[in-house]
Amino acid sequence: MSGEFNLFAQSCRQRIDTALDLYFPVQDDPTRLRAAMRYSLFNGGKRVRPTLAYAAALAIDPNIDLKNIDPIACALECLHSYSLVHDDLPAMDDDDLRRGKPTCHIAFDEATAILAGDGLQTLAFELLLGTRLTAETKVQLIAQLTRASGAEGMVLGQAIDLAAVDQQLNLAQLENMHRHKTGALIRASVAMGALAAGVDDRQLAALDNYAAAIGLAFQVQDDILDVTTDTATLGKQQGADIARNKPTYVSLLGLETARAKAAELHNQALASLETFGESAEHLRQMADYIIHRIN
Ligand code: IPE
Ligand code: IPE
Ligand code: MG
Ligand code: MG
Ligand code: MG
Repeated sequence: MSGEFNLFAQSCRQRIDTALDLYFPVQDDPTRLRAAMRYSLFNGGKRVRPTLAYAAALAIDPNIDLKNIDPIACALECLHSYSLVHDDLPAMDDDDLRRGKPTCHIAFDEATAILAGDGLQTLAFELLLGTRLTAETKVQLIAQLTRASGAEGMVLGQAIDLAAVDQQLNLAQLENMHRHKTGALIRASVAMGALAAGVDDRQLAALDNYAAAIGLAFQVQDDILDVTTDTATLGKQQGADIARNKPTYVSLLGLETARAKAAELHNQALASLETFGESAEHLRQMADYIIHRIN
């Protein structure tokens, strides 16, 4: 598959945009807080995490009504968007461009961006509470998202990332950073879609192997794109990692070895899905997309 989204991913993108719009109505907003939250949600993200949740749910139950997954998909995108708003802040990566548009703190102001991130984060959990699932499943979903996004997941990854500026990391340390920073939320996305569809333990373990592989591959590709793709295509400043002297797969391994690493992870992801039949086809396509994407 090329760097283009396939039809399934395109339809998920439309689903998530419609659902987010519904859960997040425009309101009278004298503080501009909600405007900043909406700005950060509706600025052309690829919606990879929600799409993975839909694909995982379909892998477990091909007849599932995707409406039941909408709140989970929206929660994942809210959480992810919050992480980007904060990631771009001057105290963190200090980026002006995100998804081809001024970052939230540039379009609004820094304090509003911090609060918009905070608001998006808590909205994610509120959306999970609103799913039409049993209380037990809701607790499982909330546990997944809490662990993946908190100080043992994404937030830890971000802290490792900031501490790594100007440092030499070895491969194991770099991988540990990426697994937390990006991998944790991608793993949770797959697990949450699958849990809402009634996954069993054996299936969940296989899906988690898949998700761990593509989660790491996603960040390897992010590092590759930082050096190979122009700013216009990327929608964020090209060369930002080098400019900030951040350790990446490319800086550590070189471009060709980084590409080989992405391909190896892709194979691992597909191998993890061997016990699944046709129903996992969307997950297979997402694995292809993640290492071939161009932005
Ligand atoms: C960017 O995530 C940040 C990383 C975790 C590498 P995406 O590449 O999924 O960003 P959007 O949502 O499509 O803009
Ligand atoms: C961001 O990683 C990861 C999270 C927001 C958790 P990066 O800093 O590499 O993402 P980009 O390159 O700014 O999108
Ligand atoms: Mg960062
Ligand atoms: Mg960044
Ligand atoms: Mg990056």
